[in-house]
Amino acid sequence: MSTARIELTTSVQSNKPYLVKPRATLLMCPPTLYDVNYVINPWMAGNVHASSRSRATEQWKGLYETVSRIANVELIQPEPGSPDMVFTANAGLERNGIVAISSFFHPERQGEEPWFRRWFREAGYKIVDIPRATPFEGEGDALFSTDGTCLWVGHGPRTALSSHHMLRDIWDIPIVPLHLIDPRFYHLDTCFAPLEAGYVIYFPDAFDHVSLHRIEAFYPPEKRIIVREADAVCFTCNAINVGRTIILNRISSKLSSELEQHGFKVIQVELTEFLKAGGAAKCLVMKLSKHAS
Ligand code: ARG
Repeated sequence: MSTARIELTTSVQSNKPYLVKPRATLLMCPPTLYDVNYVINPWMAGNVHASSRSRATEQWKGLYETVSRIANVELIQPEPGSPDMVFTANAGLERNGIVAISSFFHPERQGEEPWFRRWFREAGYKIVDIPRATPFEGEGDALFSTDGTCLWVGHGPRTALSSHHMLRDIWDIPIVPLHLIDPRFYHLDTCFAPLEAGYVIYFPDAFDHVSLHRIEAFYPPEKRIIVREADAVCFTCNAINVGRTIILNRISSKLSSELEQHGFKVIQVELTEFLKAGGAAKCLVMKLSKHAS
């Protein structure tokens, strides 16, 4: 069942009907209760209580306003005791109205699960719970290829390989496992992003050899945008891509012009306060295939 809305409209020039892609919908959570309260990834070390809530709020609003120009944004309210809830990419993974709710690896984030589950239930989604024994951290570790033919799923620090077959069964889609081997790139969306028009942007050193071969087998060389370490640590791969627009944290001018040469419009938003918790643009949104009902 696909609830995405495809509208039939009329082309002004030709007067012929054509299909308009539905506007993307993204879920975000305001940073009202955001803080770095514990250390569950290398970026948080040395940053406990070191982020400024007012600067975080300003930066989040900048992202919210930028994203709102190209997508609908749904909001979930933050809950006390869940300072990382702002990273909605980890709420779960959604497609065709079905959402697999995350089963967080670290107890520090497990308290978020009921809040996300409730939001999705009230919004009319079909919910699938992933058991505690098989950690799975949602869209942080699972990304559909833009042609929709496969699901790239990271495993290693957070999501367990054993959760992958459940994802395959939910959407009846081939899973391509990618093994994350650098603790700084602990979620797949920190080092890999499928982009429109068949492109991919990724940091090769974050993956083992088998995974790299899988990426290279899927994407021809001219479609691979390879990120070097200096950009990778600025969360360049943590990019929001809607149509030909890419929204991300500050990156080098070299990489930004490379993306532009491939036909992308690059919008950079300062997100320093969120980097202190190990997240940037893409971690702060979750893709939804429909509006809340
Ligand atoms: N502090 C959060 C954590 O370690 C950051 C999550 C970033 N999210 C992401 N999708 N990469 O879980």
